[in-house]
Amino acid sequence: MTGGIACYKIAELVRRLTEQGATVDVVMTEAATHFITPVTMQALSGRPVFIDAWDARMSNNMAHIDLTRGAHAVLIAPASADFMAKLAHGLADDLLSTLCLARACPLLVTPAMNREMWDNPATQRNAAQLRADGVTLLGPGSGNQACGETGSGRMLEPQEILADVIAFFQPKLLAGRHLLMTAGPTSEPIDPVRLLTNRSSGKTGYALARAAREAGARVTLVSGATDLPAPRGVDVVPVVTAQQMHQAVMAHAAQADIFVAVAAVADWRIKNPSEQKLKKEGAGGLPPLEFEPNPDILADVAKLPDGPWCVGFAAETEKLAEHAEAKRQRKGIPLLVGNLAQHVMGADDTEMVLFDDQGSHPLPAAPKLMAARRLIAEIAARLPR
Ligand code: C5P
Repeated sequence: MTGGIACYKIAELVRRLTEQGATVDVVMTEAATHFITPVTMQALSGRPVFIDAWDARMSNNMAHIDLTRGAHAVLIAPASADFMAKLAHGLADDLLSTLCLARACPLLVTPAMNREMWDNPATQRNAAQLRADGVTLLGPGSGNQACGETGSGRMLEPQEILADVIAFFQPKLLAGRHLLMTAGPTSEPIDPVRLLTNRSSGKTGYALARAAREAGARVTLVSGATDLPAPRGVDVVPVVTAQQMHQAVMAHAAQADIFVAVAAVADWRIKNPSEQKLKKEGAGGLPPLEFEPNPDILADVAKLPDGPWCVGFAAETEKLAEHAEAKRQRKGIPLLVGNLAQHVMGADDTEMVLFDDQGSHPLPAAPKLMAARRLIAEIAARLPR
């Protein structure tokens, strides 16, 4: 931690990192201790906090070496303009800067400063030098700043830093690829107040979008209505009906390398939705509704000449293997992911079986994010070079 008002947010970040299973050693510059106390950081990390290069608590008196030797990464948050300048030039005049120079692990830097400081050519030069040196810069974001100004230089929020740190450690299996996908339910209007929809929560699709992004893909997620926040770094295209989803997917399909259809698309829509709320006093007490089929988005993408490599999902309630393989053949796709709808819809865990030209491959039951990461690895392994 270096000196900046954003230090108060690092209390929350340390808490979230430890909740996710990380061991966090906090090292503060002297300036950082003016914004938040080492006592707070020690209580939240559950470990001693280091500040002083002459701290004698390490038996060999080499905190600048020992602190990073077991570490998987050093994260500077917040990173002041001054500290970035020191890093860019290799200065080592306090414990934190010395430790960064002496580290043997990746360095992640989270800039936090006033917009003029961030835009200053000197800071931009230092940021470029750090990137060239293999340092990962997280953010900065832009928005309201503590000084009352608005612009870039604002530190990312703790949950964004957490997501970026977790993503940093995922293998970049889809670097340079564009993955287009659908998720969530579609909702077909019956009248201005009623909808025909389904129980899809979007959790599997959103987990897959996150996993694909973590794996380095550019991700476009065409999503039906869900309660889920957009996964970090993913372009979300919100839609409501199957026809809107079809249109949005077709508009992006030509640029995509991979298409994954996770959405639970309504098979039928109402042919004659009413412009006024339907009354129950209508003909025979039943609504005068007619159905018509929706376009099959996945089948249409699979038919595109030079289209993306397609993955489908099949949620079945029985005879999974039989239905799933038949569906894969019918849609003409190389990979289909089957699961039992009654076990996975709305649940936090999932159990997938993959169907491809080689047969069926059951994957272990797992929380949806873990299963999604595994599926991304399976997709990456099958992609044409
Ligand atoms: O045809 P069925 O709905 O059983 O197939 C499921 C797979 O096809 C899923 O991947 C789903 O997202 C996709 N699908 C689609 N458009 C539809 C129906 C299903 O993309 N209209």
